[in-house]
Parts: sequence; structure tokens; C-alpha cells
Amino acid sequence: MGRQIALQCALYGLTVLLYDVDLKVLGGARKQIENYLEQFNHLEQFAKADPSATLERIQLTIDPKEAAQCDLISESVPEDPVLKRNVFKQFGRLCPQHTVFTTNSSSLVPSMFADSSGRADRLAALHFHQPIWISNVVDVMPHAGTSPQVLDAVEGFARRIGQIPIRLQKESYGYVFNAMLNALNREAITLVANGITSVENVDRAWMGIMKMPIGPFGILDGVGLETVWHITSYWAGQLGDVQLEKNAQFLKTYLDAGKLGLKSGEGFYRYPDPAYQQPNFLTQPEDD
Ligand SMILES: NC(=O)c1ccc[n+]([C@@H]2O[C@H](COP(=O)([O-])OP(=O)(O)OC[C@H]3O[C@@H](n4cnc5c(N)ncnc54)[C@H](O)[C@@H]3O)[C@@H](O)[C@H]2O)c1
Repeated sequence: MGRQIALQCALYGLTVLLYDVDLKVLGGARKQIENYLEQFNHLEQFAKADPSATLERIQLTIDPKEAAQCDLISESVPEDPVLKRNVFKQFGRLCPQHTVFTTNSSSLVPSMFADSSGRADRLAALHFHQPIWISNVVDVMPHAGTSPQVLDAVEGFARRIGQIPIRLQKESYGYVFNAMLNALNREAITLVANGITSVENVDRAWMGIMKMPIGPFGILDGVGLETVWHITSYWAGQLGDVQLEKNAQFLKTYLDAGKLGLKSGEGFYRYPDPAYQQPNFLTQPEDD
């Protein structure tokens, strides 16, 4: 997600410092951003932008001191509250006073990290959906201590980079879209983890009835199964929910087999031509 956010900002003329702890990951990020520039050049914001100038606006760094010299932080580290707290603590010490902090967390809430930044009033959630340039709706959510001026600034930033902000009045798990999507995903995974039906049949039902181009398992592959597992196992532990624990174990079998979804070339489906995109997917009798 970090690389998509970086590219979106650069496409809209902003200078970006893309920070990661792993130099190899940054090399991969650069390649993927170049691929995005080609893959999506039919879209208006890509067509308007000069690809090499856009790339030049994205500086890659593994130096936190360099990364901290920014007006706004968009945090997209893995969905682990301890890790997120550490990252906000680190940048709370390094960033200039005016820097606004945002988290892109999908399933946690900003009050979990706010105090670790040392500037709770300047921290809010700014939660993107992917692919960011197509699903261009972003949740803007305060915690109880976020200053209204900071929330206005975050909303303004979202508009500045071509996103449609959905402002929440108070903290709520899953924001708006994910609150609905998580319920759907939970039931989809439960159906398969409990041996009721197959991945393909769940997607067939959703796609065939709702006339959608993708079903829950296709969506999960796009999100990345590591991220989905992190979220599922975290909430299984928090809520003591036996079915969620079973679902987390089911997801773990995919991770153990190296199937991480779209980004590894295989998850519930094989890429680049997943079965659900084949013309006969809905009518095919048994494929599992
Ligand atoms: N995948 C999605 O569709 C999606 C959508 C919206 C929000 N999110 C949220 O975005 C966040 C990241 O998800 P992702 O799917 O991009 O995960 P990812 O695992 O693909 O990327 C996380 C990156 O963080 C880096 N990282 C790890 N520790 C770090 C540290 N201490 N400092 C800096 N970088 C560090 C990793 O090297 C990795 O490149 C999560 O909070 C997730 O909930 C994901």
C-alpha cells in the first residue's frame, strides 16, 4: 500500500520520501511503481503526468532521519499494533513539530498509537483502498484527541491527491467500507474453512448474484493473505472467537505454502490469469 500511496502523491505533484527498513523491498517498490506507471497509463491522472518527473518526485530511503523531514506521515507498516506504536514513537522524536501523522491501518484504531507519537492531537487515520487510483475513496477518522484543524488538514490533503474523503465523526473499527467488507469476508472464509463449499463457489455466488467482476476470495488475494491473516489472528485473540481462530489457521496453510495472494503470483487463485476472470467461471460445474 505504501508504494501506491507514494505514487498517488507523486502523480499529483507532491514530493515523497518512501521509507522502509529493507533496502531490497525499496528496490522492488521502485520496479512496481514503474510497472504501475505503464499498467495504468490509460487513466486520466497517469496520462496527465510525465512518468520520469513523477518517478523523480519519489525518493527512496532506509534512513529514518531523512524520511522524517516531511509535512505528513502516511504509515503503512504491517498490521501489528506494537510495531505501529514503535514506528510512531520513532518518528515522533524525529519529525518537525508541524508534521501530521496518519495511519493507513485497516483494522486497528488511531487511539492505539496516538500517545506513542508524543503528539496525539496531530494524529488521525487516513485509510486508503486499493488500487488507490481506481478505488479512490479514503476514510478520514479522528480519535477522541485529534484536533479538528488537523482533521481538516488531513481531509484537504486527501482531496489534494485526488481522493474522495469519507469523514467519520468518531473512532470506529473498520471505518465505513471495511466494516461492511470484513463481515462479508469473515462469512466467506468461514464457509470454506468449515468445509461447506469451495473458494470458487463462494466467489461464484457473489459474482453471479451481485453481477460483480470479483468475489470475496479474489478481493482477499488482492489485499494479500499475510495482511488478512494478521487481521484475523489478531481479532481471534482479542475476542477469544473460536471461529475466527479456525479461519486464521485456514489462512495460515496458504502462508505456509508461500501463497500470499496476487503479490506472490498465487493465493486462492493463480495469477496473472485467475480462474474467476475466465469467461466460463460462473457456468463451469466443478473445478475444485
Ligand atoms: N493491502 C491492502 O489492501 C490494504 C488496504 C488498506 C490499508 N492497508 C493497511 O496498510 C498497512 C500495510 O499493509 P500492506 O498490505 O501494504 O503490508 P505489506 O506487508 O505489503 O507492507 C508493509 C511494509 O512495511 C515494511 N516495514 C516493516 N517494518 C517496518 C518499520 N519498522 N518501518 C518501516 N517499514 C516497515 C515492510 O518491509 C513492508 O514493505 C496495514 O496496516 C494494512 O492494514 C492495507
